[in-house]
Amino acid sequence: MRVVVKVDGLRYAYPAGVKALEDVSFDLHEGEILTLLGPNGSGKTTILKCLLRILKPFGAVYIDGERRWDCLKQRELAKFFGYVPQAHYPTFPYRVRDYIAMGRAPYHGMLSLPSKVEYMRVEEVAKMLDIEELLDRTVAELSGGQLQMVLIARTLVQEAKVLLLDEPTAHLDVSNAVKVLDAIREIIKKGIVKAAVMTLHDPTLTALYSDKVALVKDGRVVAYGCPEKVLKSDLLNSIYGVSFDVFKRENRLIVLPLGTK
Ligand SMILES: Nc1ncnc2c1ncn2[C@@H]1O[C@H](COP(=O)(O)OP(=O)(O)OP(=O)(O)O)[C@@H](O)[C@H]1O
Ligand SMILES: [Mg+2]
Repeated sequence: MRVVVKVDGLRYAYPAGVKALEDVSFDLHEGEILTLLGPNGSGKTTILKCLLRILKPFGAVYIDGERRWDCLKQRELAKFFGYVPQAHYPTFPYRVRDYIAMGRAPYHGMLSLPSKVEYMRVEEVAKMLDIEELLDRTVAELSGGQLQMVLIARTLVQEAKVLLLDEPTAHLDVSNAVKVLDAIREIIKKGIVKAAVMTLHDPTLTALYSDKVALVKDGRVVAYGCPEKVLKSDLLNSIYGVSFDVFKRENRLIVLPLGTK
């Protein structure tokens, strides 16, 4: 499969001198979900922000396998990557329909209003994600799972090629977490977006939903590959200081934390 994003040797330190990333590299192929897994503060969100060029790291990211991302206008990059940040409620109580339509901003700027055609696209996307009944409510009154679906819808009307999702299952119950992850998988399977990079904290959900995993510690990718290769009990133990039982049931990889003893 074609490489859609190539990340080559990213290094980044925050202005105060906090070293956040050291030599981060990975490839994202068409059709893949890559999960960044690692402890709090290990650098996962920083990696996503570097891909988006919200932060300006050393190293390079190649879009569609060839174009360097620092040669693209910010608006072009905003069309390529659809970013779903760590869950936060918008401060203004927008109507969901309008909030999703704002995903079109890279096409016409924040100041002009979305067109009738763009609102039709909002309806199509809402139908696809099964959230049509939310369109006339306000974002402030949504549950965590509903908000997450709305945030994903916003990136889909943007016609992003690659989704970047920061902890898409944070604050969600198991049923909503699985619903959101199933929706992400479905969107990729149908070719609506080419691939996704997400961050998760749950190793079993990581095993179930990832084609590839990058295990991140102290700003470095310490293991990278398919879930079977990366989610090994000794490796996870060395990173989290917790013992894990890793086994297969009905061909699914289960990663069970056992405690610190
Ligand atoms: N704006 C900032 N200024 C200075 N240091 C920062 C800033 N944002 C993050 N850091 C530091 O960079 C490192 C990586 O943070 P990052 O947010 O990428 O971690 P993370 O893996 O996403 O963590 P979490 O799982 O808690 O979301 C941490 O040491 C953090 O304290
Ligand atoms: Mg984070």
